[in-house]
Amino acid sequence: MLKPDAVEKGHIGAILSKINAAGFRIVAMKMTHMTRRDAEQFYAVHSERPFFGELVEFMTRGPIVAAILEKNNAVEDFRTLIGSTNPENAAEGTIRKLFATSMGENAVHGSDSDENAAIEGAFHFSGREMF
Ligand code: RTP
Ligand code: MG
Repeated sequence: MLKPDAVEKGHIGAILSKINAAGFRIVAMKMTHMTRRDAEQFYAVHSERPFFGELVEFMTRGPIVAAILEKNNAVEDFRTLIGSTNPENAAEGTIRKLFATSMGENAVHGSDSDENAAIEGAFHFSGREMF
């Protein structure tokens, strides 16, 4: 997902360009606005964490771009491309280094396993929207 901060700042094109250049194929893509319930479900794994309320507020404050990306070793390679959760620790040239402003508002989400990628893809898209 390109998170609300990235969309607000007009960074959709620049981020997609980096994703393309890194060799990912776009299987599905759309702009959408998560409801509170959507965000609570999507990030349910973090529901007991102190930042959960802030995370839900942030993820629902404006539209996002959701996508399914395909590549060999996609989960690990995408997380390398986006950089550390906290942009201060993100490597030079990574998407979060370039476009994130803080630990909370960090421009992009990447799935953390193939299993979660399948669950998260199905959260946003029906089979008819995957190509
Ligand atoms: P994501 O799931 O969004 O790709 O991020 P991540 O794996 O790098 O980080 P994760 O630990 O899964 O945290 C999910 C999102 O919660 C927000 N967060 N805020 N204020 C904080 O201490 C804090 N910690 C995490 C971030 O938006 C993070 O991406
Ligand atoms: Mg995560």
